[in-house]
Amino acid sequence: MKIKIKPVKKIVGDITVPGDKSISHRALMIGSLAMGSTKIEGLYLESDDCNYTAQAFRDMGINIREEGDITIVDGKGLHGLKKPGNPLYVGNSGTSMRILAGILAGQNFESTITGGAGISARPMKRVVEPLSMMGVKIRAKDGEYPPLTIAGGKVRPIIYKNLIASAQIKSAILFAGLYAKGNTRVVEPVKSRDHTERMLKYFGAKIKIEDDRVSVRGGGELKARSLRIPGDISSASFFMIAATLLKGSRVKIRNVSINPTRAGILKVLSMMGSDIRIINKKKGFEPAADIVIKHSRTHGITITKDMMPSIIDELPVIFVLASLSEGITVIEGAGELRVKETDRIASMRNGLKAMGAGFRVKGDNIVIEGIGRLKGADLQSFGDHRTCMALAVAALTAEGDSEIEGAESVSKSFPSFFDMLFKLTSA
Ligand code: S3P
Repeated sequence: MKIKIKPVKKIVGDITVPGDKSISHRALMIGSLAMGSTKIEGLYLESDDCNYTAQAFRDMGINIREEGDITIVDGKGLHGLKKPGNPLYVGNSGTSMRILAGILAGQNFESTITGGAGISARPMKRVVEPLSMMGVKIRAKDGEYPPLTIAGGKVRPIIYKNLIASAQIKSAILFAGLYAKGNTRVVEPVKSRDHTERMLKYFGAKIKIEDDRVSVRGGGELKARSLRIPGDISSASFFMIAATLLKGSRVKIRNVSINPTRAGILKVLSMMGSDIRIINKKKGFEPAADIVIKHSRTHGITITKDMMPSIIDELPVIFVLASLSEGITVIEGAGELRVKETDRIASMRNGLKAMGAGFRVKGDNIVIEGIGRLKGADLQSFGDHRTCMALAVAALTAEGDSEIEGAESVSKSFPSFFDMLFKLTSA
């Protein structure tokens, strides 16, 4: 599906973005493995990815139901899942596939996780390797690609020094560790998003969290809890950057997750000179706040590799901001972007260059030279939701109309994105 985007003058309004996708996946997973009924407010079941996770657990005998705004997961305990009748299908959700692999490692049945065409080239060795070290019999196509077949059973504890800062890998190991006798530890080069360990702890797992390392003791039981999932900062980032770029804009986004391992975008925006205020901070198992952002002039900065995990999903729209900021922005060590839903360095380079941006790639580094205005163009999402939404923001600021091919991709994380965006715009 193609979407036409006309430039607008500003965006103004007060919005609430859908619940955090990463936390929603974990709530479904941990709720299913806990004993009793977990009540979840703000779970984002409308997104394709979270729906695939929910369906996978339904296929393993878990009852997941909605009562008004609340989702109830009737968990059956760590050993309560039943062998699915068919391969578990997770569409294009890499998060579902990788983390589920860790959970299935501990079950006393064999299962297969398969997905759509879009996931067929996503790297899986990163979870196959540590899980194999834990004694799990796990097979991937050519040792690397989906589908994954896992003969669950005995799991050994390990200490895993991960070379990639990835929450999906860390989570797969921690979930498998729940089924191991003894302590399983993951050490990361830079701490990745910590939603799994926070939530496991909240549900009663024996977890120890230190800076860049986390360990879990196997055995024990998870107990059902009630939780409220805050808005997704990755979804909020498109509005934050559109508001920064468009003169006269002011947007308030309520109840957004500001977990420090996720909220690097707030730091980047401040460093670039954005007018942003974080108000009404709320503590909880996941911290949240309201964000108020107004237009301001921004300038280029250097974003170092250690910041990558906390902004990995926001980088496409940060490229848009950098393209329209004064001076040069350098982004170091962004290589992980190449293995997301598409190669997001290539997809964003393609779109932004078509719009006239100064975008250069040097190995894993990106150098963007800001210009005064982008021009409207025919753009491609390459089937990637975040490329699509980032280019939509670019198109709003451009001179002349744009069209984006593959706009249906937004349903992966944010089906109501365009409705929400167009409600905020004024020509
Ligand atoms: C996610 C972790 C990140 C992120 C993805 C969701 C998660 O991937 O890009 O959108 O929910 O754990 P990596 O941990 O593999 O970098």
